Amino acid sequence: TIEGIVAREILDSRGNPTVEVEVGLDDGTVARAAVPSGASTGAFEAIELRDGDADRYGGKGVEKAVSNIEDRIVDQLIGYEASEQRLIDQKMLDIDGTSDKSGLGANAILGVSLAVSKAAAGSAELSLFRYLGGPNAHLLPVPMMNILNGGAHADSNVDVQEFMVAPIGAPTFREALRSGAEVYHALKSVLKKKGLSTGLGDEGGFAPNLPTNAAALDLIGEAVEKAGYRLGVDIVLALDVAATEFYKDGSYVFEGAAKSSDEMINYYSKLAEAYPIVSIEDPLAEDDWAGWSAFTAAVGDKIQIVGDDLFVTNPERIARGIAEKAANAVLVKVNQIGSLTETFDAVDLAHRSGFKCMMSHRSGETEDTTIADLAVATGCGQIKTGAPARSDRVAKYNQLLRIEEELGDAARYAGAGAFPRYRS
Ligand code: PGA
Ligand code: ZN
Repeated sequence: TIEGIVAREILDSRGNPTVEVEVGLDDGTVARAAVPSGASTGAFEAIELRDGDADRYGGKGVEKAVSNIEDRIVDQLIGYEASEQRLIDQKMLDIDGTSDKSGLGANAILGVSLAVSKAAAGSAELSLFRYLGGPNAHLLPVPMMNILNGGAHADSNVDVQEFMVAPIGAPTFREALRSGAEVYHALKSVLKKKGLSTGLGDEGGFAPNLPTNAAALDLIGEAVEKAGYRLGVDIVLALDVAATEFYKDGSYVFEGAAKSSDEMINYYSKLAEAYPIVSIEDPLAEDDWAGWSAFTAAVGDKIQIVGDDLFVTNPERIARGIAEKAANAVLVKVNQIGSLTETFDAVDLAHRSGFKCMMSHRSGETEDTTIADLAVATGCGQIKTGAPARSDRVAKYNQLLRIEEELGDAARYAGAGAFPRYRS
């Protein structure tokens, strides 16, 4: 039974304030959760409440969200069983009373929602993945490791936001993580040798200036081979283009020129022929539904096409995407929709419709590792949580190592099975 809830303002990986919540139960269980924050946020995401007081953190303080928890949520939730996640989340949605969570703030609601689930797991003496996923949760996700950062996550000239390596050939998550880390280190020495910057972007990947976006894929290919892996067999590639970021007045300002949807689709199709790319996220802008459907019709049988800004983990937008065949996968971010219950609803809807899901961090993160457990609990088979470096990123990968260890012989690594459409 929930006995008390405490909220506070802490810092995220970019040094910006975010919400942390602790939930205490009458059996002595105390659990804590922290809320992530994006930079290339979708226009249709639930509202992250910021104070707007320029004297504190440039307006980014979250004291209002904290006081909304203290003044408007705590009293209403005391006495609930922590296991009544759905009722608790619904109660907060009712108090909020808006469709975009601007009443309480999605950051307020999500902090409580996640902390409640952890308290319930703790009280049941179960790991979070097992509490949320049940006895059959056993699939370890492919880590989609973002080793080269561009776009809004870097100060470089690279348009594509994320270049990821996916170690599909590894036998276990542990070995997958090792190969990603080895490629990361190999990439650093490739960059050094070429006199390119080894400074990092927001998600821990390198952020060099490059002549083209394809040049990033060449460098990564070189690093994969230098680390002793076979590109296209052991390790395949994935992109998050985050195209909404460079969509201006109806065209895509990419590599210095304004391009149409069709031109972008052509570009990606050629890129995927030249490189072993299994997955492309946000290839087109969040409003370009026609472009998404055209791209999915063209290459959706071979490539995973992931909607992030397009779907914002929102069941209504996902339903439209399913109806219009606008993609074949959903990026899942707990803070885009703002409660655990709705996150599960989004994943269920996607899976029932034959869409894949990729569990995801935000570019602003904390030491909270909930999404690692969520990836296993939902059996989604893929997680992206940045480079295999920097504690805000590896906290999640390390949690997956612990989960794999706890599962022992029952653990299965998703591997190439995560990308059934890909033919190597
Ligand atoms: P964000 O980036 O957290 O800055 O939105 C992550 C992504 O676009 O997938
Ligand atoms: Zn994205």
